[in-house]
Amino acid sequence: SLQKLDNFLHRCVGTDVAAAQTETARTDESDETERHKSLHTLLEERQKQAERSVLISCQSRTSEKKFLKHLSRHGDVQKYFFYESYGLYAVVEFATRESVASLLEGTVIPFVSHESVVPFKSRLLSLRNLSSTDTPNQQSGHKCQPQTTIPINELIQRLSREESINQQLTFLTEAYQITEENSRLRFLVCSLLKDCAAAYFPECDIKPFGSTVNGFGKLGCDLDMFLDLDSISGWNVKMPKSGLSLEFQMKRANSERAVTQSILSVIGECVDQFGPGCVGVQKILNARCPLVRFAHQPSGFQCDLTANNRVAMKSTELLYLYGELDPRVRSLVFSVRCWARAHSITSSIPGAWITNFSLTVMVLFFLQKRNPPIIPTLDQLRDLAGPEDKCVIEGNDCTFVSDFSKIRLQSNTETLEKLLCEFFEFYSTFSFSRMSINIRKGTEQNKPEVAPLHIQNPFETSLNVSKNVNATQLDRFVALCQESSWLLQQNVTNVPSGSINPTPWGLATLLLPSQVAGIKSRKKMRREPASERIKGLLESLKNKNSAKRS
Ligand code: GTP
Ligand code: MG
Repeated sequence: SLQKLDNFLHRCVGTDVAAAQTETARTDESDETERHKSLHTLLEERQKQAERSVLISCQSRTSEKKFLKHLSRHGDVQKYFFYESYGLYAVVEFATRESVASLLEGTVIPFVSHESVVPFKSRLLSLRNLSSTDTPNQQSGHKCQPQTTIPINELIQRLSREESINQQLTFLTEAYQITEENSRLRFLVCSLLKDCAAAYFPECDIKPFGSTVNGFGKLGCDLDMFLDLDSISGWNVKMPKSGLSLEFQMKRANSERAVTQSILSVIGECVDQFGPGCVGVQKILNARCPLVRFAHQPSGFQCDLTANNRVAMKSTELLYLYGELDPRVRSLVFSVRCWARAHSITSSIPGAWITNFSLTVMVLFFLQKRNPPIIPTLDQLRDLAGPEDKCVIEGNDCTFVSDFSKIRLQSNTETLEKLLCEFFEFYSTFSFSRMSINIRKGTEQNKPEVAPLHIQNPFETSLNVSKNVNATQLDRFVALCQESSWLLQQNVTNVPSGSINPTPWGLATLLLPSQVAGIKSRKKMRREPASERIKGLLESLKNKNSAKRS
C-alpha cells in the first residue's frame, strides 16, 4: 500500500503538461527503478530540471490557460505548478534552456517611481496583466501545491483515524515528507543562487545537502546548500599536462578556512546587494563551519549557504543510503523527529537541544542493534566499497559502498509498531553516562570524553555530534522515552472508534503535550511510579476530547 500511495501522490501533484493535454493518467512504471537511484543521479537530474526552470510571481487572477499559452511561445513547457507564499507563484520547467533564454530576452526591468532598481537579470520574474479568468463565471482558483506540513493538531486527528500504529507511522511519513514539487522548488532556489555566485566563480555549482536530499526532510525544513568549487580548484586533479598552472590559484591565504571565509563573504555580499528575493542576509563566518544565512522570500525557505563542506555532503549521502535500504528506516526517523519536535526536544533555534541530525543517528544506531540488524554498520558499508568509492577528506576516511546492489540485508521482519516501542524502551535504559553511540561499529563504545550525550561523528571520528547537548536536555529526552514507551504499551488494546473526531490513540497520543518532561529530573521520575504520572495525562486527554465534542 506504500507503493500504491506513492504512485498516487506522484500522480496527484503538479501538472504534467503532456498528461494533462492528452487527459491520460501517467503510469509510473519507472517508480521501481527510481526507487534506488543513487544520490548523484538524483542530484544531477534535479539540477538539470532546475536550470531549465523559472520562478514566476503571478497575480491571483492570472488565468492558467493564458499563462500557459503565453509561456509556450518560448518553447515546450515540461511541467508547471502553482504554490502560495505571500502571493501566488509558479514554477515553470521548459524542455530546453533555450526557452528560458528566449523568455528572458523578452523581459523588461520595471520602472518604479520614487525608487531605483538594481538591474540584475535573474530567473525570478513577475507576470502582470494576464488577468481575467478562463470563463466569465469561473474563479481562477489555482490548485496550489502545499509547501508546508499540516498543523500538528490536524495531524493528531488524522493519525487517530488510522486503524493501526503501523498505518499511523506510514501516514505520518507520507504527510510530512518533501513532495516532488517542493524538491523542485528547492533545486530551483539553488540554481537561482548559483546565478549570483557565478558572477564571481563562473564554473561553480550550488548543491543542496542535509535534509533537503537525505530522504529525511519534511516540508518546511531549512535549505542547506554548499558552494562547490571543486571543478575549478581541482583538489583531486593530477599534474596538468600542459605544464601550465592557473595564476589565480597562486593567490594564497594562510588557511583553507580563511579562503572559505573570504569566498562566503563576497558571495554573501552579492546575495545581500543583488540577490532577488533574498532578505535578512547574515554572514556567520566565525562559526566552526562558516556560513551565510538568509531567507528566500518567494519560496519561503530559510537558507544556509556553506562552502568547502565535503564531509557534510558525505554524511548526507550516507543518510540517504540508509533511508533507501529499508522503508522502515525513513518511517521511524520521521516519526521520532516529529515526536521530538512536538515535545521541544529539538528546536529551530540553535542551543543545548538534540539536533535532528543527532536524533537520526540515534535511530540508525538502534536499527543496527536489532537482532537481526535492520541496517549494516558503517564499517560493513566501508568493507563493501570498491576502488571507485574511495574517499578521504582532510585525512578522514569517508569511504563506503555506493552500489546498493552489493548490500545484503538480514531478514528482520519486525513491524514499525514494534520498532517504535522498542526505540523508546532502548533509550529509556541506555547507559548514556558511560557509553557512546557509534554507527561505525554498530555497538556502543566507552565514552572517550565527558559529555552528557556522546554520539561519535561517523566520519570525523574524534568528534561528538551532540557535544552541544546538556544534561537537562538529555534528561528530558530519556523521561519522554519512558513516558512514550509506557503510553504505547497502554494503547495496545485501544480500538480506534472510527468517528470524525476520534480519541487520540497510538502514535497520536505520543504527540500530545507531555505532563512529565521538562519539569522533573530523571532522578525524581524514577521514584514516582509511571502509572501515577500517566493516569493524570489520560484523564486530561479524556476531558479534552469530551470538551471538543460538546
Ligand atoms: P533539519 O533539522 O531538517 O534541517 O535536518 P538536517 O539534517 O538538514 O540538519 P542541519 O540543517 O542541522 O544540518 C545539515 C547537514 O549538516 C546534516 O544533514 C549533516 O549532514 C550535517 N551536520 C549537521 N550537524 C552536524 C554535526 O553536528 N556534525 C556533522 N558531522 N555533521 C552535521
Ligand atoms: Mg537542514
